[in-house]
Order: sequence, then structure tokens, then C-alpha cells
Amino acid sequence: MADQTMANRIMTDRTASAPKPQQLSSQMHCIGCGALSRQATQSFRCPTCGDLLEIIYPGWKSTDGIQGNLSPLKNLWRQRKTSDLPLDQSGVWRFREVLPELPDSQTVISLREGNTPVYELPGCARRAGMQRLYGKHQGMNPTGSFKDTGMTVAASFARQEGFRWVACASTGNTSASMAAYAARGDMRSLVLIPEGQISWGKLSQALDYGAVTCQLKTDFDGCVQVLNEVVQRMPVYLLNSVNPYRLEGQKTAALELLEQLDWQVPDHVIVPGGNLANSSALGKAFLEMKELGLISRLPRISIIQAEGANPLVRTLREAGGKELVRVRAETMATAIRIGNPASWKKAIRVLQATDGTVEQVSEVEIALAKAEIGADGIGCEPASAVTLAGLKKLLKQGFVRANQTVILILTGHLLKDPEFTLKFHRGDLFSGSAHEKEARSLSEQQRGPVVLEASADAVIRTVEKFST
Ligand code: F0G
Repeated sequence: MADQTMANRIMTDRTASAPKPQQLSSQMHCIGCGALSRQATQSFRCPTCGDLLEIIYPGWKSTDGIQGNLSPLKNLWRQRKTSDLPLDQSGVWRFREVLPELPDSQTVISLREGNTPVYELPGCARRAGMQRLYGKHQGMNPTGSFKDTGMTVAASFARQEGFRWVACASTGNTSASMAAYAARGDMRSLVLIPEGQISWGKLSQALDYGAVTCQLKTDFDGCVQVLNEVVQRMPVYLLNSVNPYRLEGQKTAALELLEQLDWQVPDHVIVPGGNLANSSALGKAFLEMKELGLISRLPRISIIQAEGANPLVRTLREAGGKELVRVRAETMATAIRIGNPASWKKAIRVLQATDGTVEQVSEVEIALAKAEIGADGIGCEPASAVTLAGLKKLLKQGFVRANQTVILILTGHLLKDPEFTLKFHRGDLFSGSAHEKEARSLSEQQRGPVVLEASADAVIRTVEKFST
């Protein structure tokens, strides 16, 4: 495969004439008991205490670590954008100095992920009462969600370790991404999804990329439980976000964002919260950038959940962040329909370290925010829109000010869930639901298709009607 011969050349850096910062070896660190290990177990949990693992880079702090080489590093990352090496064209592997080192670079599986745009959202800003507002659109990744940035790293490690099968439980986007990367890396993939609870767009991706797709009669949290048992009983590589390699890849969105902002730190980054890996990964990136001296201060990171799938909100408000309050999750934003999030401790650590907050938003608020993002010509899936809905609340509370720089992380593409969008514009998204009355306020945003006789007169009359 041409990609692989090219990948072979990845570490031969043609761009760097300045001193070359090197990738440094990494370790697994347990976030519970602090135990260190070189290798993870099948479950990616600490063998001593069962808590989650994270990847750390002890060499960074040494004198010949990357801390001494920051300026060439920023230049090198920028220069790689014009390189024709596939791995330089990846918006993830472009930042490989802050990623775990793959002993054999030939095993990298890349679909040129990352490199996603930051868009200004003028209509959303006006309606929310912000002077300006930006969205980093992670839905512009190869399979349409931010999952690709983590998947390229974790799937490459699966391949490196010689696994034939990879597996995940998913609300749809992880499965779509995993199936694609497994196919590109010549591995088989097993997907466990909750029956009837993921969007057709995501399901069809997993099928097309050749995953063995099992729709289980349970919810996402139930799928995770079943998968944990499967992983113990078969040699399959777990690609859920407890796998810390996923978070390392997802980290790069924050580096790329800072590069796009010319290393000017925004005041606030707002992220949707489901299994809480993405907020944890972005937070880890900002903390590491600060530790390395790439930035001099941290943005606040805030996490927004749907009211019906709000375990983090309740964990902080009802248990002071000490113990996870599990919920039975229910929301039309199916990507974040999660009641027992794996990375809750990591996410709380990020909130505390960055002085961020959590908020929850209603189904109607999510639908309105999604339509507003769409009306700016950008579009996203419902789970991404919680960020705008949450921002409006944070503004009202005075936690965010109108003149601050705020970045919404738009996690998935509009076309992931066209059914939601169609129902919204036809006015039947909330029909027969408890939100029907509240949803009447949405009519101003609805643009249902108009059925007409096939005549120019009818079309012109319609245009005139909408011109007023
Ligand atoms: N937005 C989208 C579009 C997602 O697909 C997800 C998670 C999230 C936000 C939340 O991110 O879990 O890291 O807090 N989707 C997972 C999946 C769970 O299986 O696709 P998180």
C-alpha cells in the first residue's frame, strides 16, 4: 500500500533543519493509586486498584527533553502542514512529539484526520449576546466526528501489538470511526451498540466499513458491561475511551486549536460531556502545554450535558465530585446518552485545574442551538449543540462575559443524524412528548420543505412570501 511505504518515511523528517525535538518514551500512570507501568492489561485498568490509566511522559522535564526546544517545535508542527508525507498531513501525527512513540512507524493507520477548521459563528454570537464566537468543527474529520483523532493513535497501537480484532461499545461515532480505522489497518472490528438508540448515519458507517455490528437490547452503559466481559474472554483489543491512547490522539485538537489562534489562549473552551473522555483529553492537552511552556495560562474548560443524561452535573452538585452519581440516561442527543461515564474522575480533575464548570441543557434548548448553528451555515449533530445551549446559560449566570473569546467544540457532523434535523424542521421532533408545549417557541427556526405545483409562478410566490 502506498500509504505504508510513505509511512515508513515518517520519522525521516525532511522539514527540520533546526534542532529536532524527539519523541520521548511514555508510561502508563494510574489516576487512582499512582502505580506506573510500561504496558496495559486487556481492560486498560490498573491491575492494583482498577482505576483508569493515563499516559505520561517523564522525559519531558529533563534538560534534553522537549521543554528546551519549544520554538523549533512550533515551527516544525507548522512546516509539516506543507509536507507531502502522509503522517505530516495527519493533524494528529503532525504533533507526534507529544504523543506516545510507536516503535514501528509502519503500523500507523491514518486517514489524514484532524486539521479541522475553526469557524466564526456570527449569527450564534448575536443571538447569544456574545461579541464574537467560534466553533472548532471536529465533525470535519474523515468519518465525521472527533473520534478519528483518537482512533488513529489507539488503532495503530492495536496493530503494533499484533491484534486481529478490535472492539468497542458505542453510541455510534466511536463505532463508525473504529470500523474505518480497523478496515484501513487490515483488522476485524466488533461493534456493540444499543438497539434502536443510535442514528442511522452512524450505524450505516459501521456496516459499510465492514464491522461485525451487534445491536444489543440494552443501553450504552449495558453495552460497555458486555464488552468488558468479552474482552476478558477473547483476544480483542478494547477501543473504548478507557484506552488512554485514544485520549492522546484527541489531545491534538487542543494543540491544533492553539496553533490556529496563533498560540493566543482563549478564555473559555466549551465541550459536550458523554463518557467524558474528550473533555479529559482536551484538558490534559492544555495542562501539558502549560507545563511545557507552550502557553502561559489555561483556558477555562466547561462541560455541558443533556438534562436527561447528566451524571457529571449530579456528581458535582449532589456528591461534591467525590462519588459518581449514575443515571438512567435519556436524550435525543443520542451520542451523549450515557449514565455511567468512565472518565468522570479525569473530567473533574480538568474542571478543577482549569476553573471550569458544568451545566445541563434541556432537549428544546439543544434543538434550538443546533438550528442556530445550522443557520450560520455550519451545522452539527445534536450532541455538539449542547455547547451553544450551555454557553447561553453560562452567559446569563455571568460565568462567561460577552467580550471573552469562547470556543465551542463541535464534535460531530450535521449529516450524522439527518432524522433529527428533518423532524425538527418539519415540526414533529417533539410531537407527543412532554416538551411539546415548550417546543412551540422553536417555530421561528423551522424551515420545513414546501411542496408546490411544478410552476414558476408557485415558486416565485413562495420566494416572495419568504422575502418579507
Ligand atoms: N459528541 C459526540 C458527537 C459524540 O459522539 C460523543 C461521544 C460526545 C460528544 C461525548 O464525548 O464521550 O468523550 O464525553 N460519543 C461516544 C461514542 C460515546 O460511542 O461515539 P465523550
